[in-house]
Amino acid sequence: LANLNATLKNGLRQFPDFPEKGILFEDIMPLFADHALHSSLIQALELKIADVFNTKLGESSDVDIVIGLESRGFLFGPTLALRLGAGFVPVRKPGKLPGKTIKATFKKEYGEDVFEMQGDAIKEGQKVVIVDDIIATGGSAQAAGSLVHQLGGKLLGYVFLMELDFLKGRDKLDAPVYTLLSGQEEALNQGG
Ligand code: PRP
Ligand code: MG
Repeated sequence: LANLNATLKNGLRQFPDFPEKGILFEDIMPLFADHALHSSLIQALELKIADVFNTKLGESSDVDIVIGLESRGFLFGPTLALRLGAGFVPVRKPGKLPGKTIKATFKKEYGEDVFEMQGDAIKEGQKVVIVDDIIATGGSAQAAGSLVHQLGGKLLGYVFLMELDFLKGRDKLDAPVYTLLSGQEEALNQGG
């Protein structure tokens, strides 16, 4: 797994001053553009999940639902759900999902943002893992967690490709947090 993580870290690109001055943007897209890197990414994430949640790969055992956060969490959430034998549920930006939805607000750099999930997406007691590319301040992840709690899901934990640990986002979260990589001190990842 250490080798896999080094491969992934090398596959990331950094863009200074994007989307605004002073922010070092971690670009994960090269991990998807290359077949071997994409395959390594999925493998590393599924091994991590199988390890920390004691889930056998390819069987629906311990994880019922994988939740991915719009947008970048959609890039690998469904693939992981397939590999784990779980369902996939999206958490979306507001006004995108039909029917009855539940909402959670969270702080962005400027003002507030809202995440939504369909009201019947998770059944009470289902075991849920939330995945996303990066945890920065932890605001998005915290909001997603509160949606799971609102529906009575059992949140096993969070899995991120990368953590900007100096922002201490994980301190906001009330379930275990697992990450593959750490970001550089000056890195920030806003821009949505
Ligand atoms: C980025 C990133 C995470 C979130 C982390 O998403 O993909 O989802 O920010 O930040 P936080 O921990 O401070 O909440 P962004 O909102 O930029 O949108 P995108 O995924 O649609 O690109
Ligand atoms: Mg995002």
